[in-house]
Amino acid sequence: MIDNLNKIRNDFPILKTKVYDKPLVFLDSAASSQKPDCVINAVADFYKRHNANIHRGVYFLSQKATALYEETRVKVQQFINAKYSHEIIFTRGTTEGINLVASSFGDLLSDGDEVIISEMEHHANIVPWQLLQKRKKIVIKVIPITSDFQLDIAAYKKLINQRTKLVSVTHISNTLGTINPIQLIIDIAHANNIPVLIDAAQSIHHKAIDVQKLDVDFLVFSGHKMYAETGIGILYGKEDLLNKMPPYQGGGDMIKDVTFEQTTFAELPQKFEAGTTNYSGAISLKVAIEYIEKIGLDKIACYEGKLQDYAIAKLRKMPDIQLYTTSKFNKTSVISFNIKGIHHEDIGTMLDKMGIAVRTGGHCTYPLMKKLGVTGTVRASFVLYNTFAEIDFFVKSLQRVVNMLKN
Ligand code: ALA
Repeated sequence: MIDNLNKIRNDFPILKTKVYDKPLVFLDSAASSQKPDCVINAVADFYKRHNANIHRGVYFLSQKATALYEETRVKVQQFINAKYSHEIIFTRGTTEGINLVASSFGDLLSDGDEVIISEMEHHANIVPWQLLQKRKKIVIKVIPITSDFQLDIAAYKKLINQRTKLVSVTHISNTLGTINPIQLIIDIAHANNIPVLIDAAQSIHHKAIDVQKLDVDFLVFSGHKMYAETGIGILYGKEDLLNKMPPYQGGGDMIKDVTFEQTTFAELPQKFEAGTTNYSGAISLKVAIEYIEKIGLDKIACYEGKLQDYAIAKLRKMPDIQLYTTSKFNKTSVISFNIKGIHHEDIGTMLDKMGIAVRTGGHCTYPLMKKLGVTGTVRASFVLYNTFAEIDFFVKSLQRVVNMLKN
């Protein structure tokens, strides 16, 4: 359990902010987490003392910035236990990571090849495959969800065939909070020689991930949800796969030699990092990982699980609530719900006036919304800086909103 919550909250200056003169209760960290002082200060310090473009200068500042950037690569390698640091590719975020794989791994696919995704995917793991469909006539197959908001593993097994070339699924649903059994999903795919991409955007800061133990082929995540800057993310890929894939974008730093006739490409990881990257974001990611490690992912997961159970138990008692979760299953950090007869946006707007930030709408999972038969939900999400008192206030405020809107 987290035992120094006050200190943790003090680490996040924005939590002292008032909105409409009310204390901020921030329950939208699944969209983007707030940043601790150590991350904010590291970015400021970088620009004050070390800023220069990386990999390009023989001079002191550029060498220093390059060293900091490459230290982050090694930090990420250790954090997810990748075999080599060159298997860590810096991206703009989860979305770019999946686009990179869809475009570049997609180049290796042939018409008629199949990619399996799931019904609970974020648009970031649907649209890139549809874009690939415009270039290659691939078939997208979708694992359905059960009435318990879980992936239907029996149906998944039936989708696999000789033409299946990739399985690409989310670890934790950004809308439901469902934790998918990724080890099982990977094992089933590998028994059929199919590589697997895991979208870890909603899990990387909640659960420890060991890519070698999982034997996952691609893993993508974003910095901005795990307390780092926005605009930085990671694609992990197994060396042999990344080596087989063509570059995603062309430009500076990803080449060995360029003439007007042809270009030869740099080795990993530079092959996939064209142009000036978000090096200050990368540096912030190192500090964010160190922050998470200092508290401990096990402690964080235990505390967030308790917050989640506490909130679900309270919300269940509300009349006319439809919770898109079942308590018997493994889930974390995210609760989606609707109140019968009230539009989700009205709830979000009124909670905002009380200082509470939640996300409302389709959560970039429109196919899932269609499955649930709704246009959107209210979503509350929790991370290590949220408190039981905030949940009490949230549920009390929600009841007030319901009373006002129903009477
Ligand atoms: N993907 C982010 C969310 O679920 C933005 O809110």
